Amino acid sequence: MIPNKLWNNEILYQSENLLETYKNELISLGMLEYAQLFKGDTSGAIGGENEEETIKHFSERFLTSSARMQFLVLDPKKYFSQISKDLHSTFSSGNISILDIPSGTGAGVLSLLFNISELRNSTKLPRLPLNISIFAGDYSESALNIYCNILESAKLKLERELIYIKYDRQIWDASDIKSTTSLMKKWLKNEEKYEEFYILMSAFSGVGSDKYKTFAGVFDFIQNFVSDLHCTTILIEPNTHKAKSFLAEFAKSAKKWIKWLIRKEETTNDERFQWKDSVTNNIAKSGVLVNQYSRV
Ligand SMILES: C[S@@+](CC[C@H](N)C(=O)[O-])C[C@H]1O[C@@H](n2cnc3c(N)ncnc32)[C@H](O)[C@@H]1O
Repeated sequence: MIPNKLWNNEILYQSENLLETYKNELISLGMLEYAQLFKGDTSGAIGGENEEETIKHFSERFLTSSARMQFLVLDPKKYFSQISKDLHSTFSSGNISILDIPSGTGAGVLSLLFNISELRNSTKLPRLPLNISIFAGDYSESALNIYCNILESAKLKLERELIYIKYDRQIWDASDIKSTTSLMKKWLKNEEKYEEFYILMSAFSGVGSDKYKTFAGVFDFIQNFVSDLHCTTILIEPNTHKAKSFLAEFAKSAKKWIKWLIRKEETTNDERFQWKDSVTNNIAKSGVLVNQYSRV
């Protein structure tokens, strides 16, 4: 079911298109050599504090985040049968609008798009026109700049598989209601054009678990704002203590919204999958936790 070039001998290989896009951006930032020599021996900056921190995070952690999303979309070990199936069905055709928060430099969304594209290319998914509008929010302007660069260079590659993207972005502070109101209004300004809405929250726990109390009101606000839309929220995290605590807090908050949401929770069950890091040339290991909230 999964193309050999992406999953072989129990090892995940990232899409050539994603790697090319990523490496070109590393080259333009003058960071390719730094990324190739990175030994994975820091805990990994959260990113976003300032431009230097953002570029470092992009060079060290981008492929780790994209590997987690890829493992979910392809689901080679059948850990995520329900959520992965939902993703395939949502991203098969039509008009979809994604809110990517905090977007960082775009590892999550780029991996989602290129893996859907790979599945279309190998005829594992139907090749029907798919229009995706993406709105990114992050408090780091430098992350948003890189985000837009990589989506711009991905655009034509995705169009070969009839995936048409447009994107916009806004500086956003997850602890601030005013900034979130403006984010939500802009994201939904052409609401009537889309059949489905997606809120992608990938690798939020690094900052989100320590600051959960500061962000909780904003999470309530976002979910209330979309309560009459066909909207799915997906949280994808590494299998860490911080992430478990973040997801547990989010699930507690969700009890307030649960009247209109159903929750699905799937994980790699503490097992770690192997993936090839084609920049450092190492085989790395990761685990994934996924929570999905969708309308009844
Ligand atoms: C680990 S990155 C996640 C990026 C991306 N979603 C991914 O999958 O790789 C975390 C992001 O959170 C952003 N961030 C940290 N605090 C924030 C806040 N208060 N409001 C909005 N974004 C914040 C940082 O700028 C950083 O880009």
